[in-house]
Amino acid sequence: MTKILVIGSAGQIGSELTLNLRELYGDDNVIAGIITSKPPEILSETGPWEIVDILDRQMIVSAVKSHRVDTIVNMAAILSATGEGNPMLAWDVNMNGLINVLEVAREFKMKQVLVPSSIAVFGPATPVNHTPQETVLNPTTIYGVTKVAGELLGDYYVKRYGLDVRGLRYPGIISHKTLPGGGTTDYAVAIYYEAVKNRKYTCFVNEETRLPMMYMPDCLKATIELMQADFKTLGHHCNFNVGAMSFTAGELALSVKKHMPDFEINYKPDERQKIADSWPDSVDDTAAREEWGWKHEYDLDNMTRDMLKAISEKHEKGLI
Ligand code: SER
Repeated sequence: MTKILVIGSAGQIGSELTLNLRELYGDDNVIAGIITSKPPEILSETGPWEIVDILDRQMIVSAVKSHRVDTIVNMAAILSATGEGNPMLAWDVNMNGLINVLEVAREFKMKQVLVPSSIAVFGPATPVNHTPQETVLNPTTIYGVTKVAGELLGDYYVKRYGLDVRGLRYPGIISHKTLPGGGTTDYAVAIYYEAVKNRKYTCFVNEETRLPMMYMPDCLKATIELMQADFKTLGHHCNFNVGAMSFTAGELALSVKKHMPDFEINYKPDERQKIADSWPDSVDDTAAREEWGWKHEYDLDNMTRDMLKAISEKHEKGLI
């Protein structure tokens, strides 16, 4: 029986992934690991949960022992913009937290560990278009530094200890259930909320900024499909490029305008512009497509339709 502990379960990806895994493997078999004593109701009412601070190895051990966990999904991370504000915190959570997870996984002989990576592993010297799987990794953010080191560390545990560690380089993830926090790609979520609430948005990157992005249903599909792939078919482990769409901030605004002709956008780039400029426009995900059958479903216009509908419903109910 698979017993999965999701650390960072209350976050943007963690919250939806926990619910998806509960649907797939049974509510009691997916433990939400949350850093505070106040879990979101949607998680505490649908299955077991534990307070798990990734920096406290004993807390991870205790959750693993009490639920006989055999799989850990590590969704706890400090993202790029917050990381630049507090590099030591980013190092602590993203590296010391990760080594805690990997060591517990090794000690308790886990069946699998999922450790996400990010397009932040790339940097200004990386080819910008259709960025290859194997290429220059020279990130300029502490977040990117920890993600490169995390990929290498995960691969090391595969080779050195035979632990099944897997990971994918998420692009910017867009969703309407739980807000992202502290990332450079957060404008691609905020624009929809502001469009619904105020019909206008001030974007913190310029109109020409193009980044790889993915809608949450594709993110969940990619994550679960990688988890379910046969280990023997994997030539890579912790560093899969996964692509879906690639658009500029201007193109994103245009797709909102198709549904809301009175929507207004202006651009006021801040320090996040430099981070965005150091990341690719799009990625080559042939390895993911060949090794575990990755295929995205959503494009910009499908996603915009869905996002505006879901956020408008929340607005009408007075939830935002
Ligand atoms: N969404 C992340 C960020 O912007 C990238 O992985 O930091």
